[in-house]
Amino acid sequence: MTNKAKLSYDGKEYEFDVLEGTRGPKVINMSSLYSQTGMFALDEGLTSTATCKSEITYINGEAGELRHRGYEIEWLAENKTFLDVVHLLLYKELPSKERLDAFRYELKKRSFIHEGMHKLFDAFPDDAHPMAIMQASVAALSTFYPDHLNMDKHEDYMEMAARIIAKIPTIAASAYRYKHGYPMAYPNLDRGFTENFLYMLRTYPYDHVELRPIEVKALDTVFMLHADHEQNASTSVVRSVGSTHAHPYSCISSAIGALWGHAHGGANEGVIRMLEMIATPDRVDEFIKRAKDKNDPFRLMGFGHRVYKNFDPRAKVLKKLRDQLVDEIGIDANFMKVAQRIEDIALNDEYFVSRGLYPNVDFHSGLILKALGIPNEMFAVLFVIGRIPGWISQLVEQKEAPLKIVRPRQLYVGK
Ligand code: SDX
Repeated sequence: MTNKAKLSYDGKEYEFDVLEGTRGPKVINMSSLYSQTGMFALDEGLTSTATCKSEITYINGEAGELRHRGYEIEWLAENKTFLDVVHLLLYKELPSKERLDAFRYELKKRSFIHEGMHKLFDAFPDDAHPMAIMQASVAALSTFYPDHLNMDKHEDYMEMAARIIAKIPTIAASAYRYKHGYPMAYPNLDRGFTENFLYMLRTYPYDHVELRPIEVKALDTVFMLHADHEQNASTSVVRSVGSTHAHPYSCISSAIGALWGHAHGGANEGVIRMLEMIATPDRVDEFIKRAKDKNDPFRLMGFGHRVYKNFDPRAKVLKKLRDQLVDEIGIDANFMKVAQRIEDIALNDEYFVSRGLYPNVDFHSGLILKALGIPNEMFAVLFVIGRIPGWISQLVEQKEAPLKIVRPRQLYVGK
């Protein structure tokens, strides 16, 4: 089987190497295209372009398959916790019970934030969006931990990783509490990673915090399902910013900005706002019509995906969890009816089926977060908490390979 691809143009022939990975489509190595032909390749939105080699996450859009270092997401969601997957992404293996306990302790030790950060939260207006506070706060972390500004040694990566993973939930909870004028909550070291976040969101002085195991498990699963997802838009930003040798807090802060867009991580908040806007099942048809209308900017939030054209495996896991939660903690019945009607129509409508538009991870996570009493504006923040380990693992993987600055070219169409 030839491992060369030929391109013929204007009477000339050019040859390019074809590379094969361990799973998924082969790639044509186009890095010599310009030097051989004097032409660039154009691929707006990078729909057909692999920007790197990676061992971390594999997704197969046609098969609805998602694996982290070989483990299927369905198996991980059934048998492991979010911290197990964090360890798998960062350290390339699932942890033993002892290792997991040690890893959890390492994170707990780092879950506090510098008291100076509180002045930062104070500076924001009450109606500041928590994602803006998150992005600013992570960038500000670099001023409190300058020793991570060059990142030359592997052990520095892991220390940086532990710090950011551990501090993000505390920053997220602090952003929420300051915005609502609640007193500052500190991490409670007797609680697990996910339970602690829910505790910091809900705790109130002199008040017993109710945290049902089903709620902690549901949130832990939501975090896990968001942990990493190949070269999505925000991960591509991490790699691009990391390629300039920018410090890790700058890379993660940039990724938070990319994730905030409603076409990406802002979609789960968008789903709930869409359900609120539609309000009743009998209005669903009107909005389906609008979603299909090219002249109408309205899109069906939580539907469609650049890679998954049959189903998003994460959506399947979350749908099962959502149905379980309906009985155990109750999900807004009207939201459920509207969501169910949207699914029933869209899954049988030629417009959506022909374009491979199916419910994605955000369609169900929005309903689950609503059921957990998470405020709408915090949904994307929870996506950040879940995705941090993926961003950091991809940044570390990039740093461990020869680093070339990401600098694409263009087709100039100006004067
Ligand atoms: C995430 O990449 C990742 O891995 C992302 C993510 C991750 O874990 O990191 O999985 C997380 O971001 C999930 C996606 C969340 N976004 C949404 O739910 C927002 C709604 N979805 C769309 O914006 C859209 O589907 C995207 C952005 C998700 C995907 O867009 P693509 O792949 O660029 O596809 P496209 O915009 O070219 O659409 C193809 C066609 C178009 O119609 P035609 O021009 O062919 O006639 O499908 C239509 C689009 O108009 N279309 C939709 C639609 N999504 C696509 N029409 C109505 N409603 C939608 N939601």
